[in-house]
Amino acid sequence: MAVDKNRIYLFDTTLRDGEQSPGISLSTREKLEIADQLAKLGIDVIEAGFPITSPGDFEAVSTIAKKVREPIIAALARVVDADIDRAAEAVKKAERPRIHTFVMSSDTQIKYQLRKTREEVLEMAVNAVKRAKSYVNDVEFSPMDASRADFDFLCKLIDVTIESGATVINVPDTVGYATPDEFGRLIAELIKAVPAMSEVIVSVHCHNDLGMSTANALAAIMNGAVQVEGTINGIGERAGNTALEEIAMIIDTRRQSLGKYTNIKTEEIAKTSRLVSSLTGYQVQFNKAIVGKNAFAHSSGIHQDGVLKDRSTFEIINPKRVGINESLLVLGKTSGRHAFRKHLESLGYQLSDDELEKAFERFKDLADKKAEITDIDIEAILADEVRTASDVYTLEYISVCSGTDTTPTATVRLRKNGEAIEKTSIGDGQVDAACKAIKRATGVKGELISYNVNSITEGLDAQGDVTIQLKINGKPVLGRGVSTDIIEASAKAYLNAINKALSS
Ligand code: KIV
Ligand code: ZN
Repeated sequence: MAVDKNRIYLFDTTLRDGEQSPGISLSTREKLEIADQLAKLGIDVIEAGFPITSPGDFEAVSTIAKKVREPIIAALARVVDADIDRAAEAVKKAERPRIHTFVMSSDTQIKYQLRKTREEVLEMAVNAVKRAKSYVNDVEFSPMDASRADFDFLCKLIDVTIESGATVINVPDTVGYATPDEFGRLIAELIKAVPAMSEVIVSVHCHNDLGMSTANALAAIMNGAVQVEGTINGIGERAGNTALEEIAMIIDTRRQSLGKYTNIKTEEIAKTSRLVSSLTGYQVQFNKAIVGKNAFAHSSGIHQDGVLKDRSTFEIINPKRVGINESLLVLGKTSGRHAFRKHLESLGYQLSDDELEKAFERFKDLADKKAEITDIDIEAILADEVRTASDVYTLEYISVCSGTDTTPTATVRLRKNGEAIEKTSIGDGQVDAACKAIKRATGVKGELISYNVNSITEGLDAQGDVTIQLKINGKPVLGRGVSTDIIEASAKAYLNAINKALSS
């Protein structure tokens, strides 16, 4: 296959490796929402999940395969017949299906985890690729932990899997151990040692344990890799994966010297980042490159002065390039349903009548409390609607009473299958009282691991964005809620975590 060496393909695994982050558990609807946005962003391959792991994962992959047409839809599988069969079934309706199969390749993992020999690994990999190939033409093979594997064995493994029909060879730095210099050299040496690699797409998958995942992926690109795997906001196992928005913007910003290009519509980056953050519950660190709140904020006097005189003094990327526009006042109290629908359409949202009605009610309610409503507020409302779409319990009412000499007391009314449940509790503070009242109403016990509150936009009347992590039945689960009232946002986040635990 002829590959344009300057075109860099972006493979997004937010819905698979990203979802492996502790506490993240996305519904099919949430995954579809993210996949649709990834398609708008111009992602080339979406790894939609690992179908053998649960019926929910299978359902999400098959739904995305059916509905998201432009990108390649990939499903992950171990080198096991049942995994391959399930992955093939999940992607069978995709316009461009891919099966991604992997096996451990370092002696440490082969010996201690897999408990097999190198010969057995070779045989399993060959069988898996051949089986995958009997279902789809596009088969990706990953020798897991490649950066710590024996070089000659790695070459052999790659060679036999290409021989068996693999069209993409992905080289993972699974534990984030390699340095950019080593990883770049590994890719160059593999390409030299295995002539068949020039016939396939060479891909890399880097983890961020030492903070080098983006640098390692870039080093790989400069040494012949043409596909980079990663996630939005860099979420993923442990310290996460290469942040794809960083790779896209490095290639965009330094195109003159790198001479590479991608299919990414960079103006969609900020929106994609907010959506992933909102639905996963993982807030983005303030100083995160490209998508952090402070990525384009100039605070020192010298920097501000420079930027006012000429942006190029301290700004290497125009924020508009990643879709950050000045917070626009878009709609107000007097805007009607029609204007609201039109505006949503201009933002790329197509809602059913029912969804529109609910979102409009939320918008009107917000307009009563907040003077200026921006696109970011509207996105937050819509994400909240998606997040709560399949909730078992909904919060209908909350009332909290507190003061310097008063014991904080909260009453909540929840609804479950049409039935109202009202409970009251006291607590150490208003948030504690509200969460305890919810605990009573649902009967679900959760141990609080973390609590975070941020504001979505500027100003004292901004919506509060609360993330709560609970441990329920021994498993971490994240909940998120937004409201101009942070006690209500906290109650929603707490209930969202409970709903997620109940539906997973
Ligand atoms: O980190 C890793 O090696 C993986 C493989 C499944 C590609 O996620
Ligand atoms: Zn990984």
